Amino acid sequence: MSPISRSSSQPDVGVLLAAAGSGERVGGEPKQFREIAGVPMLLRALRPFAQHPRVRQLVIALPVAFVDAPPEWLETVVSGRLRLVAGGATRAESVLAALRALDEGCSTVLIHDAARPFVSYETIETVIETASATGAVPCVPVSDTLKRVEEGSGRVVETVARDGLWRAQTPQGFPRDMLEAAYKRFGEDGISQLTDEAALCEAAGYTVRVVPDSGRNIKITTPSDFLIAEVLAQR
Ligand code: C5P
Repeated sequence: MSPISRSSSQPDVGVLLAAAGSGERVGGEPKQFREIAGVPMLLRALRPFAQHPRVRQLVIALPVAFVDAPPEWLETVVSGRLRLVAGGATRAESVLAALRALDEGCSTVLIHDAARPFVSYETIETVIETASATGAVPCVPVSDTLKRVEEGSGRVVETVARDGLWRAQTPQGFPRDMLEAAYKRFGEDGISQLTDEAALCEAAGYTVRVVPDSGRNIKITTPSDFLIAEVLAQR
């Protein structure tokens, strides 16, 4: 085994934050700017990465209107290590725009939703370790019973066995070569429907492994998610 531990190696991880969603606005501002217990959600989402010693650079994909005029709380943390780019019409296009802005020295890439403000340091650590060799996707096992439902009528068609089913979260991690090759293979038109990058790498034939994650790493989407987030932020 190498006498040099991973935590002492050179920073070589690039983090892409997908924060360009503008459809679901809460109170006139993008939901990723809304405060949770006094701290904007995007700031909560990026801080654990900014503090990790392996992280070399962070690129945030924002709604285009905010790239040249970011909120003040974001401007104060922008430095040589943190870049802002304009996102695209879909999440996948936003991630690709951020990937194109990434420094050459980043050989591992992590992609995180700005709408997940409670990622743990342990999850980041395990995703980085796993992503040096394969794709890594933090997941939690499905605990609800799943129904396939006919669109329109609401009729239950099937109860889907939940054994072996996991819910995918972020940050997802990949060797940079793998991610770039997968994007190249499917092209800009082929990626628009993707909801995560693991699906892209799976479709390109690469191995993607599950990293067991915490149920606390929720994606904030609905008003009730914001209520849960306020409680989680107090703990
Ligand atoms: O829409 P969804 O909940 O899947 O969004 C997940 C993340 O992707 C959010 O953090 C959102 O800001 C981001 N996103 C993006 N560009 C888009 C749409 C969504 O960066 N065009």
